[in-house]
Formats: sequence, structure tokens, C-alpha cells
Amino acid sequence: MGFREQLDITRLPQHIAVIMDGNGRWAKNQGKIRHFGHESGVLSVKDIVEGCADIGVKYLTVYAFSTENWNRPVEEVNALMELLISTINQETATLTKNNVRLNAIGDISSLPEQCIHDLGEAMRKTADNTRCTLTLALSYSAKWELVTAAKKLAAQVAEGKLNIEDIDEHSFSAQLTTHDMPEPELMIRTSGEHRISNFLLWQMAYTEFYFTDTLWPDFRREDLFEAIVDFQKRERRFGKTSEQLN
Ligand code: IPE
Ligand code: IPE
Ligand code: MG
Repeated sequence: MGFREQLDITRLPQHIAVIMDGNGRWAKNQGKIRHFGHESGVLSVKDIVEGCADIGVKYLTVYAFSTENWNRPVEEVNALMELLISTINQETATLTKNNVRLNAIGDISSLPEQCIHDLGEAMRKTADNTRCTLTLALSYSAKWELVTAAKKLAAQVAEGKLNIEDIDEHSFSAQLTTHDMPEPELMIRTSGEHRISNFLLWQMAYTEFYFTDTLWPDFRREDLFEAIVDFQKRERRFGKTSEQLN
């Protein structure tokens, strides 16, 4: 029996976050340049998005470019930005065909002009799609996001619009880039690395982590379903005892 058949469709995570890692190593293993890995990684994104839309996962957030990734060689950064632009433009129609809404989080203003423009267009074109929301984390860092949220709250207090006593988890998370989505129940990281790399620190306070050695360009929907099956076997206790839950 495949993993698709083992899924309990009534207990799917609403939101899955993915750290897509291992493109460079995948290419190197084949004697190819890193960019070949990034291009191949796009095919994995397409398959995973369709897999999520197929089974009914409402939110998929993929870490596509971190704030720290700006420190890579300029040729790689430029090639990644060009790949982002061409992929967005090529895939908008397919997203709509699959009823997927495109969203983006991160310091979007730091991206190249063309990227900001085309991303905005694709988001507008897909804004009414309802089956699944695909969020690209671009120039994203959780520490940046948390500092930005703190600044916004401080400004509201300074302007007399907010009392310090009213700052709580709810008002804080309302300032985050993910304010309009549920927190991810499941986070998948590929390529055998066991770290968060500055991704969704607040939102993943109680997320289940799934790590696989598979490199991102080899990751397909069957691997996604395997991760969800694993997730569904876990007991999420949120601080309680097992007896309290059962
Ligand atoms: C993930 O693959 C893609 C991005 C971070 C943009 P990597 O490029 O990090 O691949 P490895 O980790 O070097 O193999
Ligand atoms: C994390 O991968 C960022 C993305 C997947 C976009 P990295 O490859 O940049 O992370 P580190 O450097 O191994 O932590
Ligand atoms: Mg990496």
C-alpha cells in the first residue's frame, strides 16, 4: 500500500512548512553546477503543491530564499532571482488551474524590482483561488520578522493606539507575516540537516518536525505523503499527559 492510501484524510495538517534544502549537493552529486539543482528543485515544488492541493492541505509555506542566502556568491543569487521570476511567470496559469493562491512572506522590498512586480501580479491573479495557499518565504528570516513585529507594536504604543497591557500572544502574532494563516502543524526539512535556519521561529513553537535525507530535487508527493503518515502517528500533547488526551 502506498503512503497516499495510508493517509487519514480527516486528520490532515492544515498547514505544512517546508525547508527545501539540498539542491546544490544534488547537482554536485551529478557533476553539475549548483544552478541545475535549483532548476530541478522547481519541479519538486510543483509536485508538492499539486500533492497538497490534491489531498486538501490548505496552506503550504516553502522556504525559498533566506535573508542569509544574500551572502551566497552574487552569480548564484542573481541566477536564483531570475529562476524565481521565470518560474512565477510560467506557473501562474497552472496555479489558477489548480485553484492555488500565491502568497509571499519576507522582506519583499529587498528583492529585485522585476521580481517584486511579477510576484505582485501573480498574487493578484491568483488572489481568488481557494483550494490551497502557497506561500513563498523570500528574503525571509524569523528574527527579522520578530523584530519588525516588535517595532510595529512599539509604534502603536508610542502613538497612543495600544496599551502595553494589551500586548499578548494574540496581538503579537497579528503583526507577523503569517497573521492570516494557522500555525504549521508539520515542518519538513530535506537533505539531512537538522536545524531551523531562521525559519518561522514563533509559528513553529509547537510544530512537529520531520527530517529526511532525501535531497530536495528528489522529493516528490509520495515523500510528502510519507511525512504526513509519520505525522499522523504522533501524539501531540501540548504539555498535557497522554492519559489526559485519551
Ligand atoms: C536549497 O538548496 C535552496 C536554497 C537555499 C536557495 P541549497 O542551495 O541550500 O543546497 P545545498 O544545501 O547547498 O545542497
Ligand atoms: C535554508 O537553507 C534556507 C532555504 C531553504 C531557502 P540553507 O541551505 O540556506 O541553510 P543552512 O545554511 O544550511 O542553514
Ligand atoms: Mg542548503
